[in-house]
Amino acid sequence: MAAAPTVLIMGPPGAGKGTQAAHLVVAYDLAHLSTGDLLRAAVAAGTDAGQAAQRYMDAGDLVPDEVIVAMLVDAVRALPSERGLLLDGFPRTRAQAETLEAALAELDRGVDVVLDIRVPDDVIIERLSGRWICRTCQTPYNVNTRPPKTPGTCDLDGGELFQRSDDTSDAVATRLEVYRTQTEPVAAFYEQRGCLVRIDGNHPADDVRGALDEAIGAVRA
Ligand code: AP5
Repeated sequence: MAAAPTVLIMGPPGAGKGTQAAHLVVAYDLAHLSTGDLLRAAVAAGTDAGQAAQRYMDAGDLVPDEVIVAMLVDAVRALPSERGLLLDGFPRTRAQAETLEAALAELDRGVDVVLDIRVPDDVIIERLSGRWICRTCQTPYNVNTRPPKTPGTCDLDGGELFQRSDDTSDAVATRLEVYRTQTEPVAAFYEQRGCLVRIDGNHPADDVRGALDEAIGAVRA
């Protein structure tokens, strides 16, 4: 694996990408770029990109490639070249994957490993109905599996916890369908390139973390 690796974490909504990203960025000293977090920040700030994105996000649809690609590529280019990178929730379409490949090549980088976390739909629906997120640091909690010590408050920074507007049952159903039709082909794209590792995410978070560490260890060996 490169000294400054590029790691992708993908999987359906609620697979545990954000939960596991929090571990990976610390364990491997990676800069974390989550397109979902970038978009929610843009919506909250009322930027042009945020205004363009909001209705797609609330409905559970993908934000158009031209909005998301510009945002992501600018953020990647702004990183120091010696910094490893974790991309979370990008790419989600074949066009995004091809654009990313070209942008990384310009920076003399490539994708080192793609961690593809898989979880059955019924588990996802249950997880997302119980999810609460810190407004300040984005840490995800779950009323069933990872409750905060004080209801409504982040254990780490005392931030307020909120439920996402796209965690409604209608939006989750759309997100799952969009994942199947538009994002699963991205996994096939990386499988052809030989850098995809499938991870069974239907286990306790600590076990999933162990599987991710093993996958990264195998690439580094
Ligand atoms: P985004 O924010 O990326 O959402 P997502 O992919 O739907 O994934 P989530 O954040 O919902 O889930 P996660 O996998 O991070 O799970 P988490 O760790 O929180 O994108 C949102 C929207 O932005 C998209 O729908 C789209 O509109 C737009 N967008 C973003 N990127 C885009 C792109 N590239 N192109 C176009 N549009 C884009 O875990 C979920 C819950 O489960 C939590 O409560 C957690 O505590 C719990 N949990 C986690 N792991 C476990 C475990 N192992 N066992 C039990 N519970 C667990």
